[in-house]
Amino acid sequence: MEAEDKVVSEVHYFSKEISNYKEDLKGGKGCNVGLNDCLVPKNVGQKPLNENELEAKDEGDQYVCLLGANGQTVLWSPEFETVLSCFEFCYPESMIKATPQKIVRASLDKDGDFEVLRKNDQKKKEGRIIIEHQRSTTLDLVGEQVWRGAFYLADFILDNIKTFKGANILEMASGVGLTSIVAGMLAKKVVITDVNRGDILDLIDRNVQRNKDLCKAHSHIKEIDFFDLRCIADLGSLIDDVTILLAADVVYHNQLTDAFLNTVLYLMTRKPNKTMYISLEKRYVFTIEDMDTVAPCYEHFVNGLKWLQNQEKDKITWNIEQLSTGDLFQYFTYERTKELVLWKIEAILK
Ligand SMILES: C[S@@+](CC[C@H](N)C(=O)[O-])C[C@H]1O[C@@H](n2cnc3c(N)ncnc32)[C@H](O)[C@@H]1O
Repeated sequence: MEAEDKVVSEVHYFSKEISNYKEDLKGGKGCNVGLNDCLVPKNVGQKPLNENELEAKDEGDQYVCLLGANGQTVLWSPEFETVLSCFEFCYPESMIKATPQKIVRASLDKDGDFEVLRKNDQKKKEGRIIIEHQRSTTLDLVGEQVWRGAFYLADFILDNIKTFKGANILEMASGVGLTSIVAGMLAKKVVITDVNRGDILDLIDRNVQRNKDLCKAHSHIKEIDFFDLRCIADLGSLIDDVTILLAADVVYHNQLTDAFLNTVLYLMTRKPNKTMYISLEKRYVFTIEDMDTVAPCYEHFVNGLKWLQNQEKDKITWNIEQLSTGDLFQYFTYERTKELVLWKIEAILK
């Protein structure tokens, strides 16, 4: 395969960054680690989840711990295409349990008052998600990389806990599963789906396993191929109680967008009422035809939404809106570009 056939998500601009980091930076260039030392929680390190990890455990010094462009720690080896990234996030305040605070010691301050120092005196708790993904892929396997839309939607979930807590959720085109893992921190059930291509469904499974301390929801990894809706029938009653649909960064090819919206229609015409949240990144290109920079895939999507809200009008009341996200808190570290947008689609069955 030619190198130019490969695509790389902006989230993975870490190898370029290596040379900029000083040797003494924690996790920077030259910091050789074994799997047990850094990214992989002890239990995973002791029981490798796949062949690469098995090999890495034996030859831990093949791996280098890097700091990625998006702040993630990356366990990288020139030997393997597969990479483990550790994405840190902060918990919303309402998710931090009000644990009884232990008094560690008390002393007198300069005015002679008692000053009580407490353990756990922290405003926010740091969390981390460990994701196995590819460094680059061909276009048909982009799901094996992490895309910014996944973080944007994850931020939205963490900022709207009441909406997602205890919910039954289905994510379409989940990629490596990051957004679903975050949803699974709050939901009762997450059905994590993608097209069954390459290693994608097994990759999601491994990532869910890695993060099972975080993702407490019942999780199910299944195929939904937008071009073959029989997959949905195969899910049987598993999705009968799903009320929230998610999709991140699924708008980049017009035919796929059409098939995606068709799948949304198919799901939303079935009980119960559903609300969908879609994050995406407008991708601008310069065209001679327009003599300007345009986002043709995004425009096609917006036209597709107009089409959607004219479907099954006798059965469904559609509410489709772009969400204003100016004050959406950023829990994950990534470049929050102005091209990232969120749409909400609500279908109320008559
Ligand atoms: C750019 S990736 C986004 C992945 C993930 N949601 C994220 O934001 O990191 C596009 C996703 O669309 C999925 N996809 C491509 N063709 C598909 C199809 N026919 N049916 C369902 N999903 C498809 C890919 O597998 C991939 O997971």
